[in-house]
Amino acid sequence: MGDIKLRVRNLDAWYGDNHVLKNINLDILSRAITAIIGPSGCGKTTLLRVINRLHETVPNARVRGEVILDGKNIYDPDVNPVEIRRKIGMIFQQPTVFPHLSIHDNVAIGLKLNGINDRELLDKIVRKSLREAGLWSEVEDRLWDRATDLSGGQKQRLAIARAIALEPEVLLMDEPTSALDPGATSRIEALMTNLKKDYTIIVVTHNIQFAARTADYIAFLFNGMLIEYGVAQEILERPKEKLTERYLLGEVDLERWL
Ligand SMILES: Nc1ncnc2c1ncn2[C@@H]1O[C@H](COP(=O)(O)OP(=O)(O)OP(=O)(O)O)[C@@H](O)[C@H]1O
Ligand SMILES: [Mg+2]
Repeated sequence: MGDIKLRVRNLDAWYGDNHVLKNINLDILSRAITAIIGPSGCGKTTLLRVINRLHETVPNARVRGEVILDGKNIYDPDVNPVEIRRKIGMIFQQPTVFPHLSIHDNVAIGLKLNGINDRELLDKIVRKSLREAGLWSEVEDRLWDRATDLSGGQKQRLAIARAIALEPEVLLMDEPTSALDPGATSRIEALMTNLKKDYTIIVVTHNIQFAARTADYIAFLFNGMLIEYGVAQEILERPKEKLTERYLLGEVDLERWL
């Protein structure tokens, strides 16, 4: 086991009166991939958004508990949420592409918003990020073309390049391959495995095979509760909880079974 990067402690979250995360306790290991699985509506996306302080941008949304990044609670009053979102980057299911910007500037925009304006430095980071995201060879000849012409898988890697450019410590990925074909999916899988040498990755997925291929650890959420968490292979092959087993078997009637 590696070092713990992120500790989630007694975490609860609400949208208005809707209590969607219930007393979550979870240690996320450094330089590893942790997959969060669970049925639709169980709180996976909310958990990611709580971890980088995006949750509070929703009106009437509330959080209680702690998210401790390298020993510091990100909900302490002296912490700047903008700084947290730089340290903890997020990739969404539908890759964000700024249609009026070139491929180059789609990567550079996060840097510019963070006050980096030196052209040479921007160029250097953009190139490095595109390389790290495994997109360089496909775009090096058309860096100044519009990014909207890229394929879905390329757009997702572009979004990853944009996130990486800010040198985050943690990467949150919300169903990053659900809109991609198998070829593009396996490219993202290979990329994630490569990125985990430098980053701590938390990925939400509905795809158990994807989790089996990429994840070192798996957390199973159900109805806002963390049911089981551990080494991926053990969770997949020998789950301790009946509920986890039922979910992995594709049991549809989970609500009734409860
Ligand atoms: N912006 C929002 N405002 C109000 N309620 C929300 C909002 N986003 C999510 N919810 C509610 O919070 C609960 C958890 O939603 P969340 O999006 O975290 O689930 P999920 O596990 O990511 O589901 P899926 O697999 O379908 O993406 C659901 O009951 C949902 O209706
Ligand atoms: Mg979701």
